[in-house]
Amino acid sequence: MNKPKLVIGNIKMNLETSQARDEYITNSLEAFRGLSDSQKSAIVICPPFLYIESFVQAYKFADVAVGGQNAHQELRGKNTGEISPKMLASIGAQCVILGHSERRATGETLEQVIQKVINAILTGLTPIICVGFTVGSKDAQDEGKILKDEVNEIVSALNAQQVQKVIFAYEPVWAIGSGKTPTPEHIHTMTLVVRKAIVGVHGPDTKEIPVLYGGSITTENVREICVQSHIDGVLVGGASLDPANLARMSSLLNQ
Ligand code: PGA
Repeated sequence: MNKPKLVIGNIKMNLETSQARDEYITNSLEAFRGLSDSQKSAIVICPPFLYIESFVQAYKFADVAVGGQNAHQELRGKNTGEISPKMLASIGAQCVILGHSERRATGETLEQVIQKVINAILTGLTPIICVGFTVGSKDAQDEGKILKDEVNEIVSALNAQQVQKVIFAYEPVWAIGSGKTPTPEHIHTMTLVVRKAIVGVHGPDTKEIPVLYGGSITTENVREICVQSHIDGVLVGGASLDPANLARMSSLLNQ
């Protein structure tokens, strides 16, 4: 059987009330009911921190994983308002999105992202590392070079065991929330850049590390983008607010 294609939903700072959270959970359980086991286990939902425990409890028997949208780079200490990766892991989160462009826009540096990745792995979380934030324009001639340098810097900081635990998501910043996507060919080229950068540092054993695409994915474009670009799945923002979309995407991609 083919490797399942991941469908990771980033709910961002949505579902502003506990009622909205409960409705989402109810609707998602309903939407996931018709999926096969492998279609369900390809889905990951990343709600706001406050709701993670409720989602983990609700999905206990649904075989759907839950993740965080960020974590602090340190495991403990005087970091008012922050959440340690250890806390996430201990309440049942399995993965964490790191380095999302909306966080990097607030000043998060690549050095911090790398430290976050290392400590997330240490606590048993799978980091979903977003790259492409520095790719400011879709016309950028040097997009491949920028991407390669970024991935190089990240994977060079990881040892052979650590690198096997990560997932990358190529997310060109201009495509996020814009309703515009690169062509499948372009996504294919850029995800190949990511793969080659990983393999360039860590060798052929790392060629199966999942590389996803994120930015304006919908149920209409997901199949074309995923199949034609040979990527391992998608990171979904806006469309994840309706859990039926995530169920649909997983069934379209994992038939
Ligand atoms: P979008 O967000 O699907 O709304 O473009 C993607 C993301 O932020 O990861």
